[in-house]
Amino acid sequence: MNEYDSARIRNALGLELTENPKKADVIILNTCSIREKADQKALSSLGRFKNLKAKNPNLIIGMGGCVAQLYGEKLLDRMPHLDLVFGTRTIPLLPKLISDIEEKKRRRTVETSFDIEDVFEIEPYHEEGKVTAYVSVQQGCNKFCIYCIVPTVRGKEVNRPVEDIEREVNNLIKKGVKEITLIGQTVNSYRRDGVKFSQLLWRIAEIEGLLRIRFTTSYPRDVSGKLIEAMRDIPKLCKHIHLPVQSGSNRVLKRMKRTYARESYMDIVRRLRDAVPDIAITTDIIVGFPGETEEDFNNTMTLLEEVEFDGTFSFNYSPRPGTEAATYTDQIPWGISNKRLIRLQELQGEITKRKNVERVGRVEEVLVEGLSRNDPGWISGRTTQNRVVNFPGDRSLTSRMVKVRITEGFQNSLRGKLEEINQGN
Ligand code: 5AD
Ligand code: SF4
Repeated sequence: MNEYDSARIRNALGLELTENPKKADVIILNTCSIREKADQKALSSLGRFKNLKAKNPNLIIGMGGCVAQLYGEKLLDRMPHLDLVFGTRTIPLLPKLISDIEEKKRRRTVETSFDIEDVFEIEPYHEEGKVTAYVSVQQGCNKFCIYCIVPTVRGKEVNRPVEDIEREVNNLIKKGVKEITLIGQTVNSYRRDGVKFSQLLWRIAEIEGLLRIRFTTSYPRDVSGKLIEAMRDIPKLCKHIHLPVQSGSNRVLKRMKRTYARESYMDIVRRLRDAVPDIAITTDIIVGFPGETEEDFNNTMTLLEEVEFDGTFSFNYSPRPGTEAATYTDQIPWGISNKRLIRLQELQGEITKRKNVERVGRVEEVLVEGLSRNDPGWISGRTTQNRVVNFPGDRSLTSRMVKVRITEGFQNSLRGKLEEINQGN
């Protein structure tokens, strides 16, 4: 979501990009507040630009995103070198805000309103030659997970009109994009003008020139029968769902206000696998939620084994200002939580590796995204299940769908050998 917003900020500014802060006329920091670490990183990064401002008083320094939304005015007090604070919904106002500061009509501005007419206005900058792209279909979140700061900093759920989504996808296809990922905090709760998420997927699938559709992140309770059917019946829809479970303990899930139990989550997993036998399922886990006992944690460990997730993002619980869970008195000491996290990551590491090794010998369809990061002379892409595959090949195959025989499986990627280049794309 932040990557997408950063690309929108870049387009909103319409300035030439420099990698060198010393050469910049405008520096914008986009920020994340999901956990305390990200929040602190944002503030310390900002501190680094203090000297530049001292040398160049015309330099404009701005902070946007969730940390900016959260602290607003207070940031200006704390950071005398900061000129502009803008929120998660005010990116469309950036050109005016910046030009007002440039023309000295305003100094030191805070614009964190949620009351913006079209929060999706301004499409993201798209890097030339990039084969994949995100398309936002939803902003904000209407759920009540009591540990989470997202509803505070991103506001109530707003869904984007289908026509606007289609227009953005079409523009991307003209630029050579082959795979799009529809993004929203709880993307599968999308509903706009009578169009539900599964229907949106069918509409997007009709767009010619698009080879693959992904979506993230899904909320378990909102996985409908129609969505499962769409995953089974839309060939362009990738066989992967990111379905955060957060915990395997019903007691913890209830306290988190996640609105489902372990059993109903397992039921969704079973229905997805019945409909799409080879589907990859990934998840998010929070370890050390207030009051989490060793038994609660063991329930999460057994859930990992029961589901056999293809991958997991796991985090120590981090108390966030203004959330209910942060006021709980039974916080788990970091030392205990982190030991659990390490155990969990070890277990998931083994499962992921095992599942990757299981792919060896199979032929997988891979959309080539470009040169491999580590091996010169190799190229890289992903399977429908979102596994990264590296294999020897020429960069001219970028944006083509190819068949690759898998020869090796690691924890984070696969290796393979090119078998065949699909015709017609
Ligand atoms: N502490 C730790 N992890 C969190 N997440 C959300 N809020 C917190 C928090 N306070 C995690 C959840 C969510 C992911 C994006 O971040 O697992 O799915
Ligand atoms: Fe946060 Fe996701 Fe819960 Fe929304 S659904 S409150 S974004 S964890």
